[in-house]
Amino acid sequence: MATVSELQHITLRVNGQTYPVEVEARWLLSDVLRHQLGLTGTHVGCEQGVCGACTVLVDGQPQRSCLMFAVQAEGSEITTIEGASPEEGLSAVQSAFQNHHALQCGFCTPAMILTTEALLARNPDPTEEEIREALSGNICRCTGYQFIVEAVQEAAERRRQG
Ligand code: FES
Ligand code: FES
Repeated sequence: MATVSELQHITLRVNGQTYPVEVEARWLLSDVLRHQLGLTGTHVGCEQGVCGACTVLVDGQPQRSCLMFAVQAEGSEITTIEGASPEEGLSAVQSAFQNHHALQCGFCTPAMILTTEALLARNPDPTEEEIREALSGNICRCTGYQFIVEAVQEAAERRRQG
């Protein structure tokens, strides 16, 4: 017998704003961010926790939004790439990625940027090994990781200089 899906009213905090939304308990955070809130900077690749493209920050920690139900995010502060970008221009991390050609198609880039933001928030002066470890859950199929690592090193340097 077919089951009738039930919508739940929840409130999500995303990029400093409060969003009342209606969701089914089974809906993924990644889908709700993209389709309900229009925050399409969160990309969806594998949808099984492998590629890292859907990474957002949940209370400051990188989290795969395809492995989390939207209802689980209630009460947390979510940051997507839209919230990590200034109104105009680029953030220090975005600018460093641009300088080092650390993106080509850009599919992995929002997640790379957010993962970098989280890394630099907890470790302002990471070693190359620590950068590679922090980004190891994010797959880039076109740029090559060396440019990305160099971009993170420049971003760290810029942030330390204020
Ligand atoms: S889409 Fe979530 S890890 Fe690949
Ligand atoms: S820039 Fe294309 S997947 Fe990373």
